[in-house]
Amino acid sequence: MQSGHQGRYPRRRLAFTVGGTGMESRTKDQVKLHIRWMIRRDMPEVLAIEGGCFDHPWTEEDFLQALRQRNCIGMIAEHEERVIGFMIYELHRSRLHLLNFGVSPEFRKIGVGRQMINKLVTKLSHHRRTRVTLAVREGNLPAQLFFRSQKFVAVKVLRGFYGDNGEDAYFMQYQLQNAVNDEDLVPEDASISMED
Ligand SMILES: CC(C)(COP(=O)(O)OP(=O)(O)OC[C@H]1O[C@@H](n2cnc3c(N)ncnc32)[C@H](O)[C@@H]1OP(=O)(O)O)[C@@H](O)C(=O)NCCC(=O)NCCS
Repeated sequence: MQSGHQGRYPRRRLAFTVGGTGMESRTKDQVKLHIRWMIRRDMPEVLAIEGGCFDHPWTEEDFLQALRQRNCIGMIAEHEERVIGFMIYELHRSRLHLLNFGVSPEFRKIGVGRQMINKLVTKLSHHRRTRVTLAVREGNLPAQLFFRSQKFVAVKVLRGFYGDNGEDAYFMQYQLQNAVNDEDLVPEDASISMED
């Protein structure tokens, strides 16, 4: 993950304009989202969000390369036919690993990221995939606070994890309660990254 734009908050916390319909007031629980598989046509909107999220954003080729992997899945969050968030994750034997995750800057702090994580958690099962993991840049405090608010805990520091500036990463993990399968708790494979 990159450090840069992540700390920006929209001025209006619970109100925003959508698709020319005028100002609408919404509470966090009322943001209606459709979370579905990403398709090729979503790419321009996903790239625009990515560009608003990170100093060194993934290119289209980075997304395509990730999504070509058999165990990699892309999902988007759509609000009134507009893509406002995305997540890319890998399926591993006992966990889901988030590679990339972002919400459009103008739709932050209204529960979109929370709904996306909730969706991911529904894909876990007590006997098989019991965890969601990710690596987050040490400098990306807003994302760390976000994931902590979603019950992720930092379980390991990955020293010098990011090749571009040598920044450390926190390896964070969400674990289903009462999970039966607790194998592979913290992978030694440091190539697994949220960004870059
Ligand atoms: C991190 C990110 C995904 C959060 O998405 P979001 O839709 O704004 O998050 P939510 O509105 O669902 O927030 C849920 C909770 O997370 C915490 N949180 C979210 N953003 C936060 C921030 N900037 N600072 C502190 N806490 C934050 C809050 O506790 C919030 O609950 P509250 O609004 O009741 O206080 C979004 O800021 C983003 O896209 N950042 C840039 C990309 C990025 O860093 N991705 C993660 C890479 S590891």
